[in-house]
Amino acid sequence: MRSCRNCASALAPFVSFGRMPLANAFLRPEDVPNEYFFELAAGLCEACGLVQLLEQPDPRRMFHDAYPFFTSSSAAMTRHFEALAARVLRDALHAPDPFVVEIGSNDGTLLLPFARRGIRHAGFEPSANVAAVAAGRGVSSRIEFFGEESADNLACEHGQADVILAANALCHIPDPRSVAAGVGRLLKPDGLLIFEDPYLGDVLEKTAYDQIYDEHVFLFSVTSVANLFEPFGLRLVDVEPLPTHGGSLRYTIARTGHVAPSSAVESWLAKERAHGLDELDTFEAFREACERSRDELVGLLLRLRADRSRVAGYAATSKSTTVLNYCGIGPELVEFVCDTTPQKHGRLTPGSHIPVRPHAEFAARRPDYALLLAWNHRDEILGRERGFSEAGGHWIVHVPRVEVLA
Ligand code: SAH
Ligand code: TMP
Ligand code: ZN
Repeated sequence: MRSCRNCASALAPFVSFGRMPLANAFLRPEDVPNEYFFELAAGLCEACGLVQLLEQPDPRRMFHDAYPFFTSSSAAMTRHFEALAARVLRDALHAPDPFVVEIGSNDGTLLLPFARRGIRHAGFEPSANVAAVAAGRGVSSRIEFFGEESADNLACEHGQADVILAANALCHIPDPRSVAAGVGRLLKPDGLLIFEDPYLGDVLEKTAYDQIYDEHVFLFSVTSVANLFEPFGLRLVDVEPLPTHGGSLRYTIARTGHVAPSSAVESWLAKERAHGLDELDTFEAFREACERSRDELVGLLLRLRADRSRVAGYAATSKSTTVLNYCGIGPELVEFVCDTTPQKHGRLTPGSHIPVRPHAEFAARRPDYALLLAWNHRDEILGRERGFSEAGGHWIVHVPRVEVLA
């Protein structure tokens, strides 16, 4: 029996997606024989509410000097982070010579507005190649995993932080107690931790099972986040819903006694109790919804193949690795996947081995249908690709339900 990474209680497994490669391990054809697989399955801790992977591969396999995801690949996410930086600049940096830290700073998109103003900043970013892009933009990062020890080192070298930021990063770190302890060391007495991650409630509501993959060791909820930080003298003081990544929450954490919690915290906790977000029955229903989603998507693709329609995937996302492998979708059903990231071109999708091609080939090869693997960037992509529909192309989405868009 696996135990909770936070409170060590026994986990209740609720879904298994079988043998899975790493979501971002886009392969050279010659590397196919050596592909790495693990068992992708998730469980609920009924004691603290934390939903987590039963097994996570070693983080050094995933975050290294060839990490292929760059925040700046989405214009909408770039604008989202500029707005967050503007808010932090306006509301949270009143001390003289403030210090801003980001966990999982990637290519520096969120820290850039601070760097441009000459504000002291530091990113924790273990993937050296993306950190190098940040450095090229004037954003300094430490090529390190954030945790209690690295946080302590930074505090000793540069002092404590006014604000610690993290986006789509804390859900990647397998030792949550080390993260909470590290925040406890690094934060000034009146400092704030502001972080955002995909929200468990949205994943359940939309059957967005593709948020479950090797890097996302946790799917946080308000309940589990409040429980996680509380023993470290840190309190959840605000919660804000965000549209990003198909539905996220932004959590604000302060030292206990320093900031009065907003009424949003209690109302989100009550909403989660009402929706059974810490009850196993809710997750059993989710597993059945995943199976239905898989059967519908495969059924649709088989019908399209029988009609001799050509289908391409749109965006070689990390989440699509779970979908393509769980559904058993390969090049016989999806001819190629287009993506804007040069590092992915000429590679094969992990496990499903569909060729990844440059974005320009989407228009050049004119598929009849496009399976929107980046459903979380739907508005941005459908807005840009109006020409595809105008030329008679059809979009397929699988979240929140499998359908061909009219
Ligand atoms: N914050 C960015 C990047 C998210 S991807 C955004 O929202 O777009 C997750 C990032 O976290 C990757 O760049 C990865 O290298 C980094 N990461 C993984 N484990 C980490 C850890 N323990 N400490 C700090 N960063 C980590
Ligand atoms: P992610 O699911 O790991 O966040 O990755 C998103 C991928 O989608 C990344 O490889 C860039 C790609 N992408 C496109 O190809 N076109 C787009 O318009 C957008 C927004 C993303
Ligand atoms: Zn627990």
